[in-house]
Amino acid sequence: MKITVVGAGNVGATCANVIAHKELANEVVLLDIKEGVAEGKSLDMWQTAPINMYDSRVVGSTNDYSKTAGSEVVVITSGLPRKPGMSRDDLIATNAGIVKSVTENIIKYSPNAIIIVVSNPLDVMTYCAYLNAKTHKNKVMGMAGILDTARYKAFLSTELNVSTKDIQALLLGGHGDTMVPLPRYTTVGGIPVTELVSKDKLDAIVERTKKGGGELVNLMGTSAWYAPGAAAAQMVEAIVRDQKRVFPVCAWLEGEYGMKDIYLGVPVVLGKAGIEKIIELQLTADEKKLLSDSAVAVKEVMSVLDKMEKVA
Ligand code: NAI
Ligand code: 2OP
Repeated sequence: MKITVVGAGNVGATCANVIAHKELANEVVLLDIKEGVAEGKSLDMWQTAPINMYDSRVVGSTNDYSKTAGSEVVVITSGLPRKPGMSRDDLIATNAGIVKSVTENIIKYSPNAIIIVVSNPLDVMTYCAYLNAKTHKNKVMGMAGILDTARYKAFLSTELNVSTKDIQALLLGGHGDTMVPLPRYTTVGGIPVTELVSKDKLDAIVERTKKGGGELVNLMGTSAWYAPGAAAAQMVEAIVRDQKRVFPVCAWLEGEYGMKDIYLGVPVVLGKAGIEKIIELQLTADEKKLLSDSAVAVKEVMSVLDKMEKVA
């Protein structure tokens, strides 16, 4: 089995490293457009194998897609990251061109691949990959919800001084400031979080989660990579091991949640066929309103992409 990660930058290299450590495939291909970078990082990773005791071969490629041929899962991380003061949406024009050409090349060599998009603006880049892959909707998805939920869980863990392992949480909507963390579906060891933390503190944590990406951009001058890379690798694992995990994933909606023709974060069952099921929740009126506001924000950027002839 082969897994490809496109983009050997911060997120892509981290993701490939986690995939190799977990031995999710015999071969992990890391591809980048910058001469030698993917080969160098792959060689460095492969040299950790005797130390960390894994057998997944990590192979680098400078834009040679023939090396990716026959990949079962492909993670697309190529594109510019966010810089301070830049919104995710500012990235659209450049990253759409990159995601289009990468997707076309991937499908040429791996027509049956399941594609996980990470590049920003996430929901719209996933749409861009879907338009250009011309494959089944369940095989093209975006990674954001696992990352955003992980941030929410990490903040709760710190606040409550409990293990992150005992926190279950869910989050819907687009990957941006309009995302919708759901305290009503958040539990700690089975106990509703609302019984453990005051409303003010919970509201503050929800707000911090929504701005979690920006917080890191401001601290580091570029966007995060450890948690994003690990989150994308967790999706790969659910697929290649057919785990039927329930995760928030950016999925193509065709009527679910009353929405149509839009990529948006919703809970899904992830297994060997990709998105095997979208789980629909009975939302309160307030939650519905937040989700619909988030959908409006995503649709706005989707329509920008639709107007860009060369990428849609
Ligand atoms: P980075 O700049 O470290 O790496 C991006 C890599 O893509 C570079 O090595 C670059 O050479 C490569 N690249 C550019 N054009 C390419 C092409 N046509 N073909 C192959 N490779 C190409 O950026 P980083 O930090 O890894 O972020 C990557 C993307 O992921 C950004 O768009 C960022 O905003 C996004 N992101 C999304 C997250 C999410 O939750 N969905 C979380 C974190 C980052
Ligand atoms: C993140 O959430 C910026 O999307 C990137 O870290």
